Amino acid sequence: MDVALKIWRYDPDSGERELRHFEVEAPEWACLLDVLDIVKDQVDGTLAYRKSCRMMICGSCGMRMDGRAVLACKERMKPIVERGHVPVVSAMGNMPVLKDLVVDMQPFWTKIRTMKPWLDTGYEEVPEHGEFIHSQEEMNPIHKEALCIMCGCCVSECNSMESDPEFFGPAALAKGFRFVGDPRDRTKIERLERYNDEHGIWDCTRCYFCNERCPKGVDPRDAIAKLGAESIRVGIDRDMGAKHAKWFVHSAKTTGWLRETELVPKTQGVAAAIKETKFALNLFKHGKVPLPFPPHVAKNVQEARALHELVGAQGRDGAAGIVQGERALARIEHTEHGGVQRDAPAVTPGEPTPHAEG
Ligand code: SF4
Ligand code: SF4
Ligand code: FES
Repeated sequence: MDVALKIWRYDPDSGERELRHFEVEAPEWACLLDVLDIVKDQVDGTLAYRKSCRMMICGSCGMRMDGRAVLACKERMKPIVERGHVPVVSAMGNMPVLKDLVVDMQPFWTKIRTMKPWLDTGYEEVPEHGEFIHSQEEMNPIHKEALCIMCGCCVSECNSMESDPEFFGPAALAKGFRFVGDPRDRTKIERLERYNDEHGIWDCTRCYFCNERCPKGVDPRDAIAKLGAESIRVGIDRDMGAKHAKWFVHSAKTTGWLRETELVPKTQGVAAAIKETKFALNLFKHGKVPLPFPPHVAKNVQEARALHELVGAQGRDGAAGIVQGERALARIEHTEHGGVQRDAPAVTPGEPTPHAEG
């Protein structure tokens, strides 16, 4: 098949960027990485990009196609060619570009390292009674986070990192939950304290772009939600984000509504609320907020309370209460034949496996 694509080139010596058009012949099974190989082999040997495994394992070939992060070795070109589309390929976002499609991953690795990405079992030598055996059920809660291949696609798309490059970011925080949720690790509280620092979990804007673009189904936003829920469960709730989340729950349980007028005093404190009095009065004048007293209580508030009690009775506090992305909204992928298929792992972390139920 004849493949056309445009590539954003970047020359680090001159600092110039240029959008170059390429057309090559490629086999029908070719993925984006194969096409780049053909371009480099037959048209322009100076084209720079990263690759290694060619089978979605090493995480080297992250880049953007039409403005969204992809693994070049995962993207089939045939459907794109059949649509007559000419994709634009560029380097990943949120990381400095070194040359063409190659970015500097140093900031990425620095953040991964701050997560202390290794098991801390609390002992240095194997205890006398030998190994500790853990069941599949115990390991299921970190099944998805353990799938991360460190490609950086989520970081590339992260809105929070775009405004605050210091934000720990989706990949590092997913790595953090991989150890917080590991029953063998003994430093959970210490880790959660660290992840609750400035630039930590509560700085996520919940845009879900990381879930959307992760090529391995890690769903980093869900990992961040689990870290938040686990922090609150163990009493680490100093951040405004944690207070905000707690107020949402309390408000929904007691009235069936979100009492927005009380959000500021409950999350930022009374002093901050007083400073916002003029703004609040203006909102009230224009009918944007109701009076806080008496609080509006939903007619069927008992339904909200019953739901709260049900979740409590299920023991789903902390990370276990976070509904996984593939459950909340099945990941839909369009097939080559025009239909759709659901792309979800067979095992849902936190839930018993069919084997265990049997
Ligand atoms: S959900 Fe949070 S971590 Fe994920 S891309 Fe958006 S801001 Fe970044
Ligand atoms: S979470 Fe997904 S997108 Fe992010 S680095 Fe890991 S595999 Fe890549
Ligand atoms: S080359 Fe290894 S993930 Fe693409």
